[in-house]
Amino acid sequence: MKALVLAGGKGTRLRPLTHTSAKQLVPVANKPVLHYGLEAIRDAGITSVGIIVGDTGNEIREAIGDGSRFGIDVTYIAQEAPLGLAHCVLIARDFLADEPFVMYLGDNFLIGGITGPVKVFRQSDYDAQILLTKVTEPRFYGVAELGPGGEILSLEEKPDRPRSDLAIVGVYTFSPAIHEAVRAIAPSARGELEITDAIKWLIDHGFRVHSHLVSGYWKDTGRLQDLLECNRIVLEGLEPRILGSVDGLSEVTGRVALEPGAIVENSVIRGPAIIGACAKINGSYIGPYTSIGAGCVVENTEVEYAIVLEDSTLRGVSRLTYSLIGRNVEVTRSEGLPNTHQLMIGDHSRVQVQA
Ligand code: DAU
Repeated sequence: MKALVLAGGKGTRLRPLTHTSAKQLVPVANKPVLHYGLEAIRDAGITSVGIIVGDTGNEIREAIGDGSRFGIDVTYIAQEAPLGLAHCVLIARDFLADEPFVMYLGDNFLIGGITGPVKVFRQSDYDAQILLTKVTEPRFYGVAELGPGGEILSLEEKPDRPRSDLAIVGVYTFSPAIHEAVRAIAPSARGELEITDAIKWLIDHGFRVHSHLVSGYWKDTGRLQDLLECNRIVLEGLEPRILGSVDGLSEVTGRVALEPGAIVENSVIRGPAIIGACAKINGSYIGPYTSIGAGCVVENTEVEYAIVLEDSTLRGVSRLTYSLIGRNVEVTRSEGLPNTHQLMIGDHSRVQVQA
């Protein structure tokens, strides 16, 4: 069995962060989302992995390499434009050959991994298996409607009026029958070859398509609230470790990972939280569910329920919550009069200030 990981596409929902970098590499607990996916694939016993890449291909290649450090063997497949999930299957035809495979959307996150569903598929004679989970806003996803016996009655991609609250999770398992389906379908109204349409095609042509409700935790990390939630959940299971230095004036409680070279002075850190390598925390409060990236400087600041990427500076800011801060960003206090907010922020940014 092989795996096809989709790491191309456009990250419009996490702009401006994903203008310049791949959305699959946004970190959760200081580790790129994509790493979790590749580890889950390896843990399911799959080592031959094709990764679809687009405009951000160089960055993905740099982050993953040949896959050996994850215990997998990676083949990169370039997609000229994000023409849809089924298009990815189409262009991966040679790589996939006639083997069954798991298709994993690189921005999806399943706590509990994929070993269970892959095992079920391996022992079955299904042509496709989709995973479903209940969500509060199904219109943002592919949505399945099930009959009384669990059979799939309908599948719709991001419907305006969803027929159920069961979203299609971004992990699919397919037999080679899917190749015929992706060749047969036409682009959707949004101009993409939809995998949802290909699965519908399989059902309509009498192939065996099975759905499986996932009990584990799942998020599509393409949206801020989901990303922060993932961060919260991963941090809750964090292995506490203090590998950096903490001075006598500081208080560190709860699950906290302090990476090598990190320095905490005169501060309160209340876990779950992770402080990346060589970060400097001074005169600050780092509250629960916060990931501070490597090389960050946090001074006289209060921050919680937030993700701060590498090499950023927070100085004199109180109090930052529910935030995602990019790399090399500076958030500082404006001194003197007039008492104003001074901003220099990129396109498509979102800032909420307390007036
Ligand atoms: O997250 C689950 C949802 O994923 C499902 O419920 C939907 O049915 C499914 O269509 C998909 O919807 P999204 O709109 O979230 O897909 P997105 O465009 O974000 O793409 C998912 C991943 O695939 C992402 O890592 C980018 C990559 N991708 C996407 C496209 C369209 C590619 O590599 N190539 C592409 O052409």
